[in-house]
Amino acid sequence: MAKEIIVKPLGITADLNGITFKAVLEHFKLYEGYIKKINEIRTKIETVDKQLANATYSEIGELKRQESFAADGVKLHEIYFSILGGNGESSGKVAQLINRDFGSLENWMADMTAAGLSARGWVILSYDLADKSLHNYSADAHNVGLVVGTIPLITLDVYEHAYFMDYGVNRKGYIEAFFKNLNWKKIDEIAEEHKIQ
Ligand SMILES: [Fe+2]
Repeated sequence: MAKEIIVKPLGITADLNGITFKAVLEHFKLYEGYIKKINEIRTKIETVDKQLANATYSEIGELKRQESFAADGVKLHEIYFSILGGNGESSGKVAQLINRDFGSLENWMADMTAAGLSARGWVILSYDLADKSLHNYSADAHNVGLVVGTIPLITLDVYEHAYFMDYGVNRKGYIEAFFKNLNWKKIDEIAEEHKIQ
């Protein structure tokens, strides 16, 4: 029996610096949709006819394909909403690691911004267990381009739904606002949870 995934409450309660509460609320509805779908998909996987598995088309094939999309959609958005709502002032453990691995906060931000302007889905500041370093990895969809063996610390959503309401096509303006709202204490908590150093 698949464990039911539950919506994690939104911690944001008002406009952010450059990102409206209305846009956040609309965005949160999409996250709730992924929660609904991951539960639905997993329930269906339990009863679907697995004998009919086929790579061109089969019900189980489609369910498995969309399971990773929905599961990543849930996880990436949970981090995204949880790390916003701060004052953007970088300090603490992860900021130190960024300095170590990117040379400076400015270098990291420039890399993340360029990746954010190039990606079609996400940019993820990840701790890679292979080289024990931080990388900005980009993903063209929730489940396209993720690197295995990595721990996401900061997830930047660059799907149009994340910024069109506030910024139209000005994605760069949205990315600048994203940095201004980062909650570095929360980011450090994620790193601590995973014993990253
Ligand atoms: Fe999103």
